[in-house]
Amino acid sequence: MNACIRAIVRTAVYNGLEVYGIRRGYNGMIKGDIFKMESLTVSNIIQKGGTILKSARSKEFATKEGRQAAYEQLKAHGIEGLVAIGGDGTFTGANIFYEEYGIPTIGAPGTIDNDLYGTDYTIGYDTAVNTALDAIDKIRDTADSHERVFFVEVMGRDSGYIAIPCAIGGGAEIVMIPETDTSIDYVIDQLKAGWSRSKTSFIVIVAEGDEEGSATEIAAKVSSIIPDMDARVTILGHVQRGGAPSAADRMLASQLGIACVEGLIAGRTNEMAGIINRELVYTPFIETITKQKLINPNFTKMVDILSV
Ligand code: F6P
Repeated sequence: MNACIRAIVRTAVYNGLEVYGIRRGYNGMIKGDIFKMESLTVSNIIQKGGTILKSARSKEFATKEGRQAAYEQLKAHGIEGLVAIGGDGTFTGANIFYEEYGIPTIGAPGTIDNDLYGTDYTIGYDTAVNTALDAIDKIRDTADSHERVFFVEVMGRDSGYIAIPCAIGGGAEIVMIPETDTSIDYVIDQLKAGWSRSKTSFIVIVAEGDEEGSATEIAAKVSSIIPDMDARVTILGHVQRGGAPSAADRMLASQLGIACVEGLIAGRTNEMAGIINRELVYTPFIETITKQKLINPNFTKMVDILSV
């Protein structure tokens, strides 16, 4: 997100615009936690994880009174356009706010989950996947040495976008994602088939939103049927949300930050900037929050093929 903030500020300055930062998302808008930003305000942040503007979910912005207060603050600061970085919650809020108060708004997709319609990749996704993959490589060393089965849980909320490249890139034997039904019976069959082919270690990547439950629950269900299995569970959790951004993320965030400001200058509003097939596209907020970006079903098949 810092790389995106930097690009937004610098593109605004480049175009002779005044630019203000709002701390803590919509909460800061309501409270008027708004400050002037200059080119130097965003020096030395492109390589840093997180966001210098802080981030918070806002219950108040979901209320009419909250949005009215936010509008008053923007008016008091003379703000004529907004850039919102976030996921579907951010854009749901932005969409309502635009409809009520008409302040031109463009969004940049910022979530590790990559579950937003209107862009092939979201800002933070590539970094999160690489962080998870690095951990999975290390887990494989123990799995292999001790001949164990590891159930590794990755983030993604209701989507398997993080799980898929972790499974394919990490050489996992099984992947469990919310978009496909992978039963406990299937997991057991795959493990037994692997043992019969003399495999001695296994990695099962579990997306946190999988319909069979968390990695801990799934490991317990499988262990109750195969008690001899030497199983361990690792929940990667919030390590996936931090760290220096990858080159791909810095590039994407910079491109989209520029696109947000240029979109506003061109008179666009109520849309999210994204990259699809290497082309810049703007998608109405309403589509980004109502349409689903489907995962290619061949990816789970790839895990099967490559773990034979
Ligand atoms: O949406 C990003 C995400 O990291 C999800 O993958 C995860 O389910 C959730 O946020 C965690 O939220 P919190 O940081 O509030 O625990």
